[in-house]
Amino acid sequence: MSRTKKFLALAATGIFALSLASCATGGESTDGGGGDAGATATECNVGISMPTRSLERWINDGEQLKSLLEEADCTVDLQYADNKTDQQISQIQNQVAGGSKILVVAAIDGQVLAPVLAEAKAQDATVIAYDRLINGTEDVDYYATFDNYKVGQLQGEFLETELDLANATGPISLEPFAGSPDDNNAKFFFSGAWDVLLPYVESGVLVVPSGQSPASNDDWASIGIQGWASDKAQSEMDNRLSSFYTGSDTVDVVLSPNDSLAIGIIASLKSAGYTPGADYPLITGQDADKANVQAILAGEQAMTVWKDTRTLGEQVFTMIQEIVAGDEVTVNDTETYDNGEKVVPSYLLDPEVVVEADVQTKLIDSGFIQASDVGL
Ligand code: BGC
Repeated sequence: MSRTKKFLALAATGIFALSLASCATGGESTDGGGGDAGATATECNVGISMPTRSLERWINDGEQLKSLLEEADCTVDLQYADNKTDQQISQIQNQVAGGSKILVVAAIDGQVLAPVLAEAKAQDATVIAYDRLINGTEDVDYYATFDNYKVGQLQGEFLETELDLANATGPISLEPFAGSPDDNNAKFFFSGAWDVLLPYVESGVLVVPSGQSPASNDDWASIGIQGWASDKAQSEMDNRLSSFYTGSDTVDVVLSPNDSLAIGIIASLKSAGYTPGADYPLITGQDADKANVQAILAGEQAMTVWKDTRTLGEQVFTMIQEIVAGDEVTVNDTETYDNGEKVVPSYLLDPEVVVEADVQTKLIDSGFIQASDVGL
């Protein structure tokens, strides 16, 4: 953390401690002037519901937010749901029954949480959708995430630049993948990338030999990989390679929306005999997971979109402080994330591209990963 950030975090914690003290002594709500009319101070009892421990990023997300909150003397219940929707629902029910007044939920399936959130609302809980939007309910108060459309746009623009698509004649063979159909983020990732790439598919500069080429952004789920599973991405890539790349045909580019899919795609390419070098395809990713950073260093993956999840944790911590104090919650987007029932006030953070040359300067120097984690 930079010195300024550390100072801000500590200063914020101080303010927070004061507002907590006022709660404990039955003090009035600390509406700092700009607050929502009628907002009252809330007990800092937080239930955090994360989708799975199987992906590095969610472990980091959960642990970091938990420790920020515990340093500020909040009560925290952190649960992981093994990517199982029913488990996530019953964990949230238990958190509400156990007294959580603020819920931070990274939904496994963004479509099915309305009933459990209605139960939470009946107990006056405030709900923050974390990273992934929750759809079809009035009962989600805020959303904090990275700019999901921009994640895809960065992937698309990276490929456009690397392949000089604006001047290329092609045909360059592309295999596109999309994320889990139940994750609201996946359509934003795909739309961001496809808005850049589809014109080149339409003009024939890019060709998709497998035919897995959505005609519009709305068809993205047809190439979605359920649960963001590496093994499912691997078998899908195996099928495409064995059915559509025969003889001397090779794939030049794979649009992978995130790192867990990229891992499966890389494994598939390896078993089909592809080795890093001039003829190896460009593969995109997202998250800067350690295994993928190693793949970038080994020339097996071209880039990842890095979302510094520490900043997301800090932003959600800030939101929680504001809720606890009864202050107005800071958001920077009130237009993009319509969940079907309301436009959820959101705070969007900026993702950024990481290629091999950035591993040291962006990921290691900032402390996001250690050099030893990636064999440096
Ligand atoms: C997150 C990505 C992650 C994916 C799989 C998405 O909702 O935004 O960072 O790679 O889920 O867990």
